[in-house]
Amino acid sequence: MKALQLGLLGIGTVGSGTFAVLQRNQAEIVRRAGRGIVIKTVADLDTACARAVVGDAAQVVADARAVIADPEIDVVVELIGGYGIARALVLEAIAAGKHVVTANKALLAVHGSEIFAAARAKGVIVAFEAAVAGGIPIIKALREGLTANQVQWVAGIINGTTNFILSEMRDKGLDFDVVLKEAQRLGYAEADPTFDIEGVDAAHKATLMSAIAFGVPVQFDKAHVEGITRLAAADIRYAEQLGYRIKLLGIARRQAEGIELRVHPTLVPTKRLIANVEGAMNAVMVQGDAVGTTLYYGKGAGSEPTASAVIADLVDIARLSGAGEGARVPALGFQPEALAQADALP
Ligand code: HSE
Repeated sequence: MKALQLGLLGIGTVGSGTFAVLQRNQAEIVRRAGRGIVIKTVADLDTACARAVVGDAAQVVADARAVIADPEIDVVVELIGGYGIARALVLEAIAAGKHVVTANKALLAVHGSEIFAAARAKGVIVAFEAAVAGGIPIIKALREGLTANQVQWVAGIINGTTNFILSEMRDKGLDFDVVLKEAQRLGYAEADPTFDIEGVDAAHKATLMSAIAFGVPVQFDKAHVEGITRLAAADIRYAEQLGYRIKLLGIARRQAEGIELRVHPTLVPTKRLIANVEGAMNAVMVQGDAVGTTLYYGKGAGSEPTASAVIADLVDIARLSGAGEGARVPALGFQPEALAQADALP
């Protein structure tokens, strides 16, 4: 069968990782996908940098719209980030009948309803495993592994930057600003780190998890969002003395009135597994009525961990789009009763 042809929009940290892992593991990926997965074109404003990453293995262009217009491209992989140009390009790619894989949690949390509706109308897939908790396959776990369950709640450390800051402040007694700079140097933090430290990035991810777990529309504007900027080193110390660790948790919980969605610093007893998730690592707990509590742990950011999630989506699309129209899955499943619940959100 013909290889799946990709157009990558942006080849920064995640794009480079995607290129490297696809090259290195191509034989396994072909075996699992039933066909090859090939980067045909990379679009990046910095063409010299893109060329340095891919060499002669792919075409390099500056104009992302040239990728979308190419009839040979099956999947557009959006790795630009942000709401602006990324939203326009994703909608144009869908309109052109391309499947889309994205790591862009901000875009989907804020404009997801519009994007998923466009994808459903066009019969294409919008896949976003990489948008939540990097390499942890939490979207797949919620959508597939736990599909028999009524999920009661999802709670997790889903921002590596803030977890790194809290861990370093506690262990090394370092100041907030010093540790934030280190998180930026290590590549964990967003381009605008305000999104990390004010809890916005975690709220984007919690919004996406709640949409999958509870079948509600993506409603970032309904989330309660509080970051870690008002925490002092003394708060962290006192919490430890009382047997607690402060963690920034993203929580989505089914309540009688609807779905509660919140991000805030939380006192977690130190004996709990999730209290011991340190540094930039992520962990997500899911409580289902049949399975009980489950826990997923791993790297929530970084080049190859996030590429691992991007490629998992690409393998799914290679399998599904190779199996004919009937096998196509909707971009996001909605249920009528879940829409009613969503209306009841505070
Ligand atoms: N800034 C994010 C984090 C990157 O720190 O978790 C991964 O989404």
